[in-house]
Amino acid sequence: MTTATHEPVPVPPSGSDAPDVSASLATARRRSAGLEAEIARDPSRFRVLTGDRPTGALHLGHLLATLDNRVRLQDAGVDVVIVLADYQVIADRDETGDLPAVVREVVLDYLAAGIDPARSTIFVHSAVPALHQLMLPFLSLVTVAELERNPTVKAEAADAVRRQRRGMSGLLFTYPVHQAADILACHGNLVPVGQDQLPHLEVTRTVARRFNQRYAAAQPYFAEPEALLTGSPTVLGDDGAKMSKSRGNALELRASEDATATFFRRARSDARRQITYEPEARPEIANLLRIGAHFAGTTPEALAESVGDAGAGRLKEVVTEAVVEGLRPLRARRRSLAADGDAVVRDALARGNARANALADGVLADVRELMGMTYG
Ligand code: TRP
Repeated sequence: MTTATHEPVPVPPSGSDAPDVSASLATARRRSAGLEAEIARDPSRFRVLTGDRPTGALHLGHLLATLDNRVRLQDAGVDVVIVLADYQVIADRDETGDLPAVVREVVLDYLAAGIDPARSTIFVHSAVPALHQLMLPFLSLVTVAELERNPTVKAEAADAVRRQRRGMSGLLFTYPVHQAADILACHGNLVPVGQDQLPHLEVTRTVARRFNQRYAAAQPYFAEPEALLTGSPTVLGDDGAKMSKSRGNALELRASEDATATFFRRARSDARRQITYEPEARPEIANLLRIGAHFAGTTPEALAESVGDAGAGRLKEVVTEAVVEGLRPLRARRRSLAADGDAVVRDALARGNARANALADGVLADVRELMGMTYG
């Protein structure tokens, strides 16, 4: 899922061919602030492409890291396109699970969170063939060495080996190029990313630039999409590691109130009674404070202050209450959408797939023409 299922990416050692990560991060932050101002001025200039791998229902990490932000951009008037990357589910696993069932759960999560299928586009990878055909010319524009250097691919490959004891598949290796096809197939020009996804976007920008140089020198065809850094901190699961479906440490959005209380009761904390917001020294407490503050509409510092010396048990009660209250409307909407059967999900996908096909067919036709590959 957009970063959420991934392990934190280690910063590559600085060397001759390692990009200067902190400098590019600072640049991306500055640029993102500028982009936010441009969005406020003229949202119609932007098309966001973002997505998730359908590996399970969405969890709290998704909501705070990406989903709320997508809804915000949609409501600001940005054209938001969301890909359910079913073809990427097989990049690092043999078992896909029941994909239609998982896709349904994820779409219900989107709609319940406020994604409006009349304004935003939700589509499934495999339903849009032209997108994947773009992979072929795009693959010719990058070298194996460049892909090998991609820190996100390295981290995911290591994760695949650790979890499933398998080597990196060719699909996982070329994942960033597939993502370039996702983005460029709809002329996406804005991609909300956590900082661990910045290298992926660099590949898309490289593909766009090289395609233009090679085939559209007179008039650039693809815009180089820009990263919109989300800046939201990582949400931790109940074991203190990054919340992810595959770790089994996640609180699903659709979970019951009881399950929500159990999740927070089990969540790691520390033994100090005085609650303070110290992200470095007390990461688990800080995580609880951030989650609670998010839903209570306050700051982690103020929440810490209000719990004071009542201890982690009290903090967990306060956070549980805030989350249960905060998620109540989403969960109610989700229940009523689910009770309507499959029609609402099917309609959203039919609409989304049709629009994504229209966009991708158009781009593929243009690309073939620019490459001189039209016959008769
Ligand atoms: N990379 C995302 C994930 O790991 C899913 C995804 C696929 C995506 N294509 C994308 C995100 C394009 C942003 C842009 O689940």
